[in-house]
Amino acid sequence: MKNIGLNIDKALGKITKEQVYAQENKANAANSMLHKGTGEGNDFLGWLNLPSSITEAELADIENTAAKLRSKCEIVVAIGIGGSYLGTKAVVEALNSSFDWLQTERKNPVLVYAGHNIGEDYLYELTELLKGKQFGLINISKSGTTTEPALAFRILKKQLEDAVGKTEAKERIVAITDEKKGALRTLANQEGYKTFIIPDNVGGRFSVLTPVGLLPIAVAGISIRELVSGAVVMEKATADTVPFADNIATIYAAIRNELYKDGKKIEILANFHPKLHYIAEWWKQLYGESEGKDNKGIFPASVDLTTDLHSMGQWIQEGERSIFETVISVENADRTVLVPSDEADLDGLNFLAGKRVDEVNKMAELGTQLAHVDGGVPNIKITLPQVNAYYIGQLFYFFEKACGISGYMLEVNPFNQPGVEAYKKNMFALLNKPGYEKETTEIKSRL
Ligand code: PA5
Repeated sequence: MKNIGLNIDKALGKITKEQVYAQENKANAANSMLHKGTGEGNDFLGWLNLPSSITEAELADIENTAAKLRSKCEIVVAIGIGGSYLGTKAVVEALNSSFDWLQTERKNPVLVYAGHNIGEDYLYELTELLKGKQFGLINISKSGTTTEPALAFRILKKQLEDAVGKTEAKERIVAITDEKKGALRTLANQEGYKTFIIPDNVGGRFSVLTPVGLLPIAVAGISIRELVSGAVVMEKATADTVPFADNIATIYAAIRNELYKDGKKIEILANFHPKLHYIAEWWKQLYGESEGKDNKGIFPASVDLTTDLHSMGQWIQEGERSIFETVISVENADRTVLVPSDEADLDGLNFLAGKRVDEVNKMAELGTQLAHVDGGVPNIKITLPQVNAYYIGQLFYFFEKACGISGYMLEVNPFNQPGVEAYKKNMFALLNKPGYEKETTEIKSRL
């Protein structure tokens, strides 16, 4: 079976292939630093061999827990934010029907999300939706102390206990958190919930292939075994023993860093397949939190095309030339829709009659690529043979590996996120959280 591919030909021009290949030693050294654990943040490298080290027992435990939730619940709420949310959302949106929630004959519970915002209206609407329904909760937080999911869980736990009683609620709540630390671990142990552990050495944005992603994805009826087997293939294909020219992770990392040095400060991840929207959201967190530090880092942005050609297309074509584009190109659409012929042809579309809609989409993709290249936007292409769990598993691992390499090439620690704390400190001070008295006085004097 073929793998996902990378083509950088249309990103070359102002920067040359020789320049990219001149990064070979640096990129390979960065890859080795990951494998040898000699770089900064080396206590967060558990994701590196995760796909090949997941055991049959672990997969079976996740599948059995998912089966229990599936048998009891019409709706399962996945509670989490950032790395504890985006991977699941990315897979489920990519693989479920675009109109999944409207399907009445269901094999799978509807998966909905909470704890990824503090929207009161959102939570009100969710609690209204859950009234009278059989529902369950998967509460995901590595630290176990993040405010957004903790708040959502407090509200939804009470609703569930009020609806079905404490004993049954315990059967429908699963906690995924640290082995020992954090408020969620204490709560889960005290209440006796089924729990899964997020390994200490796997950071949130690298955790999709732990129970963080695997349990809710399995609840949605998607094969976690295919997802993991795709990632296993990419683990091998991007190992530090693979030569630079054959290693798509080192090449992607090298060209991003060359483009950045050339003043391309923004990378736009584009897709022509609307179901990949949340893959881009997941990718933005991965690269944004990993590289955006020490006053450095490419800003990761994203567009859904052709939709956004009618909103952001003008900027991409003719705005400031500080961008490059990485397109996730899907080789084969899953379904076939043919353009019908029309006798009157009043819309003038008979020249497309008999063609697949995907052929129109492919020509839009090709036309856009050439237009953007002509407009001075270097274009990297990642090919995805098909949108399925296996190739999404490959894509996840590819992006994770390239991110670690790219971060080391940029000379930042790709595995911390100190900047995320700043808003939390201010929010706690403004909410008069005990222990923040000094910060409260300080911040209130600035208002
Ligand atoms: O990548 C990260 O570590 C973060 O984005 C976290 O995933 C996010 O802040 C959620 O943290 P937690 O799982 O501890 O609630």
